[in-house]
Amino acid sequence: MQKTIIQKLNKTFKVGTLFATMVILNLDEANAQVEKEKNVKAFEFLSKAGASGFDRKALEFENGAVVSAHPEATAVGVAILKKGGNAVDATVAVKFALAVVYPNAGNIGGGGFLIYRSAKGEIASMDFREKAPGLAHKDMFLDANGDPISDKSKEGHLAAGVPGTVSGMVELHKKYGKLKWSEIVEPAYQLADKGFRLTKQQVRELNRLKSKFQQYNPLGTALIKENGEWKDGDFLVQKELANTMRLIRDKGRAGFYEGEVANYIAEEMKRGGGLISKEDLKNYHAAWRKPIVGDYKGYKVITMPPTSSGGIALVQLLQSVAAYPLSTWGFNADSTIQVMVEAERRVYADRAKHLGDPDFWKVPQKELLTPAYNKSRMANLNWDKATPSSEIQAGEFGKKESEQTTHFSIVDKEGNAVSLTTTINTSYGNYVVVKGAGFLLNNEMDDFSVKPGVPNYFGLIGYEANAIAPNKRMLSSMTPTIVEKDGKLFMVVGTPGGSTIMTSVFQSIINVVDFGMDMQQAVNARKFHHQWLPDRVDIEPNALTPEVQKTLEAKGYTFYKRGSIGRVDAILITKDGKYQTGADPRGDDTAGGW
Ligand code: DON
Repeated sequence: MQKTIIQKLNKTFKVGTLFATMVILNLDEANAQVEKEKNVKAFEFLSKAGASGFDRKALEFENGAVVSAHPEATAVGVAILKKGGNAVDATVAVKFALAVVYPNAGNIGGGGFLIYRSAKGEIASMDFREKAPGLAHKDMFLDANGDPISDKSKEGHLAAGVPGTVSGMVELHKKYGKLKWSEIVEPAYQLADKGFRLTKQQVRELNRLKSKFQQYNPLGTALIKENGEWKDGDFLVQKELANTMRLIRDKGRAGFYEGEVANYIAEEMKRGGGLISKEDLKNYHAAWRKPIVGDYKGYKVITMPPTSSGGIALVQLLQSVAAYPLSTWGFNADSTIQVMVEAERRVYADRAKHLGDPDFWKVPQKELLTPAYNKSRMANLNWDKATPSSEIQAGEFGKKESEQTTHFSIVDKEGNAVSLTTTINTSYGNYVVVKGAGFLLNNEMDDFSVKPGVPNYFGLIGYEANAIAPNKRMLSSMTPTIVEKDGKLFMVVGTPGGSTIMTSVFQSIINVVDFGMDMQQAVNARKFHHQWLPDRVDIEPNALTPEVQKTLEAKGYTFYKRGSIGRVDAILITKDGKYQTGADPRGDDTAGGW
C-alpha cells in the first residue's frame, strides 16, 4: 500500500524515503483523528471474529488501580491501596499473593524486574533476576560430545537459578514502602493457610501436569490432588507454603535466605542433584539499576535495562518505526506489519549477540539506543520482498569495549506507579516444589545460552554475552515499562510471554499512541511477532485479514499460527486523570480499583 505513494513521492522529489515519509507524516497529522477512528474500527473487526472475551471493556477508577493475573491477587492489592498503602505496598502484597494463588508463575522461587515512578516523577528500576549458582559452569548442559542434554536446563533441580524475588521485595519496600512489612505479607500467608478457590484454567493445568509433579516431587506436594483430579470449585490449601510466608512475614529477608527455608532448599538440591547452596542464598542480593529512558513521538518511555534485554529492544523497536506513518497505514495493515516485523528481525539479531548480564558483559547500550543507528538498520528494508533473516546480522560497534511469567501494573491515589514482571520461566518452572517450604523453583538456567547458537525454550539464541558463568544473571526479555506524556504518568504496561514480551509491549504502546485505542482495546488486540530466528511471523488467530496475509505472503513472509501471544496487564491515565485498565482476556487477568 505505502510502496506506491513513497515511490511516487521519491520520483517527484528525487529524495529518499525519509523525506517522503515526513511528507506523509504531515498529512497524517492533519487527519489524525479520522485515522484513529478508522484504526479502532479495524481493530474491532479483526478482534471480534470467533473470539470470546476479546470484547472486554476498559474499567476506569479514580483512586487507584491494580491489574494482575489472578482475581485474588488483584483483590489483595486493592485492599492494601484502600487502607492507605501506596503502590509499592500494594506491589509487595500482590507479589506474595501471586506466589500463593498463581503458582504457575507468581513466585518466590524465581525472580523479575520492576520499574517504579513516584507521583513526583522520580524513577527507579530493580533487577531481582535469578543468578546461576556458584557451582554452575559454562558447559553444564552439554554431554561429552558437546551436544546439549535435552531438558536438563528446562526441568528438574539443575535448571534452577538462585531465587531473587524475596530480596527484591524487601529492598523495594525498604526504600519506598509506607505500611509495615508484616501487614503487607499477611494476606499471602492467609491465602496459603486457609486456601483459595482455583480458577477453571488452573484446574485444567494442575490436572494436566499431575504426572510431572509426581515425577519431580516423590515426597508429595500440595499441587497434587491425591485420589483423583482437581475439580471446578476446589480449594487449594498450601500449609508448607504458609509456613514459608509466615517466616518471610516475621523475619523478612532472613526468613527466606537463611534458617529453615534455606535448609529446605539445600536439602531439596541434595535430593535432586541441584546446585543451589546455602552460600548462594545468603549472597543473593537484588540490584537497583538505572532505568532506560527513550523517546517515542514525544512520549517518554521508561523501561528495564539489562539484565533484561526487554527495555533496550523496546526502545530500539520504537526508534526503528518512528519515522513511518503507522496511523495512516492503519492497525495491522500490510505496511504496518511489514515495518514492525522488519524492525523486530533486526532488533532480535542485536539481542542475540550483544545482550547479557551487565555485571559480566559490556553491553553496547549507548550504541544500540542511538536513534540514527536504528534508523540506519531499516535503510535496507525492501517493500517488495521480506528481508531473509540470513541476510541480517547484529550491528557491529567496533571491538567490544571490553510460559511462565506474570506481569502486574499498579497506580495509587497519589499517582505513584509500579510496573513489575516476574517469572519462574516456563509454566510451573522446573516442576520441583521445595519439600517443606512448599514453593516451586524456576527453570531459569534455560535462559542462558547453553551453547552458542542453540535455541532455548523460546527459540532465542545467544552467544558469549549470555554464556553460563557462576553467579551470573541469565538474560531476560521481561519489559516492565512506564510511559510519560508531558511530564505526567501516561501508561503502566508489561506482559509475560518469553521472547514475545517486548513485541507485545511494543504493540500495546503503538495501539494506544498511533492507533487511538483505549487500554483494554490495546490489550485485546490480536498480536504478531518476529524474532529474527526462526524466520517467520507468529500470529494469533484473527490478527490479520486474509487479504493482508496474502499480500505479505506474496512478498515472502511466512506466517505461523499460534494460540496466544502475551498477557498484557496495563493502566492508562485518561485525559481527565482516571485510571483506565486493560486486563488481558487471554488469562484470568483481572482489573480492580476504586
Ligand atoms: O526472562 C525471560 O525472558 C523468560 N524467562 C520469560 C518467560 C516467560 O515470559 C514465560 N511466560 N509465558
